[in-house]
Amino acid sequence: MAEIARTRLPGPGRWEAFRRLFPVPFRHFADFITDLSARYGPVFGFDLPWRHFACINEPALIKDVLVTQQHAFQKSLGAHTLRLILGEGLLTSEEPLHRKMRRIVQPAFHRARIDGYARSIRDFADRFAQGLVDGATIDVHAAMSELTLRIASHTLLGSDTGDVAEAVSHALHALMHEYPYILAPFGALRQKLPLPATRRLSDAIATLDAIVLALIERRRREGGDRGDALSMLLEASQAERDDRPDDVQLRDEVMTLFLAGHETTANALSWAFYLIARHPDVEERLHRAVDVGDRTYVNWVVREVMRLYPPAWIIGRETLRTVVLANGVVLAPQTTVFVAPLLLHRDPREYADPEAFAPERWRDREPTPFAYLPFGAGARRCIGEEFAWLEAALVLEAIAGRVRLVRDDPRPVGIKTLVTLRPDGPVTLRVVARTSAREPLATR
Ligand code: HEM
Repeated sequence: MAEIARTRLPGPGRWEAFRRLFPVPFRHFADFITDLSARYGPVFGFDLPWRHFACINEPALIKDVLVTQQHAFQKSLGAHTLRLILGEGLLTSEEPLHRKMRRIVQPAFHRARIDGYARSIRDFADRFAQGLVDGATIDVHAAMSELTLRIASHTLLGSDTGDVAEAVSHALHALMHEYPYILAPFGALRQKLPLPATRRLSDAIATLDAIVLALIERRRREGGDRGDALSMLLEASQAERDDRPDDVQLRDEVMTLFLAGHETTANALSWAFYLIARHPDVEERLHRAVDVGDRTYVNWVVREVMRLYPPAWIIGRETLRTVVLANGVVLAPQTTVFVAPLLLHRDPREYADPEAFAPERWRDREPTPFAYLPFGAGARRCIGEEFAWLEAALVLEAIAGRVRLVRDDPRPVGIKTLVTLRPDGPVTLRVVARTSAREPLATR
């Protein structure tokens, strides 16, 4: 053990890390770790005065962190900070609360149940596609956020949220922009100051709270078991058991499903349409696949989109005690450990021509375990993974079956590495009806 304990991670000196990340570390974090990864390889560490950090983007070690030794970790500060909005729902709670609540909600995500949601998802997607007007331009991120919010609320929570989509979008915007500051040193103190940004955040939380509480109240009044996630939560909360979830827990779980259930999928779909618009060959192949009902190619497209633009671009943990990884590296207690799908998914050792958008690369291959992790792994793996795959495929099929979404602006869209990986501005696309428009694809 003494021998092992000397094994340190390569990385920059304290001063460099401090200089590059201070005063709001998370604002520059993606650029910083991308740079360190190029310099030191897939596993590196660095220190800030108040904390050790390790970035682990090596499949065998990721398995160690997320699965084999998962009980030696809790969620990192980033997830705990989200409690400001999500409370202690599935995404942000720790054991044993997490396990108890996951057991209650899990049946809503069983395979048979997910298949049952397909019809509703298809209806929403078809209606959206039918509403697209030839020649109009849309901001695809705004449009996908609204569509996925409607789908998640309807299927998982039995509620129609058509009228609140804009309020939710504003609230999420306020959260995403304040998030790096909350994570910064003195972030908690800042929240107590009456700044415009902190006021915007507390207004946002109040708005979301009002929406979610109204949604729960409505369902309580209506009663009945719809077999969705909210039914399961309401039933558990009414059980004659001392450990039944109380109203606060119910609110936290519903808020989590409400937000986690749509934000990530909206990003995946936005990146999908952006990438498809920039790759006429993929678009053409996709149209052929959709027209003959071939889901395989559609799934390759979704998989490749989430390889290049993983909506959950970083997954954080914190060591609860000293952890010795499989390669002998020792992580001190309270070290923040990051797995970054954004880097992992572009590792040239795993992916030939890693920056290329090439759905065909998935022909004849499945992802190597722990080298492709858009949904995480282990006990905290995404509960909505199957739901998200299905939803993304159905929305792609509905839209691509009817229209082309064309990008007239040749400039690339940048990424915003906030809580999730969002486009760094509106992604404007022009609707071209497939039947009327026969623009030769190759000329774009
Ligand atoms: C493309 C879409 C999605 C992506 C990329 C995604 C990604 C992820 C990832 C990486 C995690 C693990 C976080 C960690 O280990 O710290 C996670 C957890 C979670 N996701 Fe998703 N997600 C997606 C869609 C959904 C949907 C549709 C739902 C629906 C309800 C959902 C609900 C959740 C919840 C509740 C958790 C916490 C699970 C737990 O800790 O038990 N996600 N998601």
